[in-house]
Amino acid sequence: MISLVYRSRLYRELLDKYVKPGDVVIEIGPHVGSATKLYFGRTKLTVAVDIGVQSEAAFRKLGENSSNLFFLRDDARSFDAVKAVLEKTQRCDVLAVDLGGGRFADTVFKVWAVWSGVFRPRVSVVRNRSIAEFVQKAKVEDAALLGEFPDDGWLSMWGRTVPSRLKEQLDEFSFWVDPSGIKKV
Ligand SMILES: C[S@@+](CC[C@H](N)C(=O)[O-])C[C@H]1O[C@@H](n2cnc3c(N)ncnc32)[C@H](O)[C@@H]1O
Repeated sequence: MISLVYRSRLYRELLDKYVKPGDVVIEIGPHVGSATKLYFGRTKLTVAVDIGVQSEAAFRKLGENSSNLFFLRDDARSFDAVKAVLEKTQRCDVLAVDLGGGRFADTVFKVWAVWSGVFRPRVSVVRNRSIAEFVQKAKVEDAALLGEFPDDGWLSMWGRTVPSRLKEQLDEFSFWVDPSGIKKV
């Protein structure tokens, strides 16, 4: 299942609802862990990836006494981030992506599509206003595209790709934005 929301409170509630005991969770953009702290205690492993220093400090505290919480301070658009998480886990049950609800739809979609293709979650929870607006306005007019997809949290066309292809896909980000120029907050 792919869950799409805009309101932060609902995002946290849904994430808490979908995480089952013993799950492996990857949360991208957790900020200070407002959603993470609701569920990580019952997970086998929770991996949190955020680019911010504030996030790093908060997770140092949050994970103090927990062996099941791993924080990575990195840019989720980078190949190195995916590679570092692959060293921790090859799969996940729940993938959550919140880079900020107002972020450009293409960035959020691509981050979600790449990570979900690699880790193949049962459930994805994505927070973004523009993707929601696209889904709301789009009318699928091709019968071949209706009702033929399994109800899991990733796209069949992405699948697990070979590392060199994955690197190519992530490197495409630099065509739109310069990942090295992102402000570390
Ligand atoms: C709106 S906050 C997330 C709030 C959080 N989901 C909650 O429930 O409180 C967005 C977070 O995404 C992080 N972020 C933005 N772009 C990122 C990127 N390219 N890679 C990793 N983290 C990113 C920011 O540092 C920030 O902590």
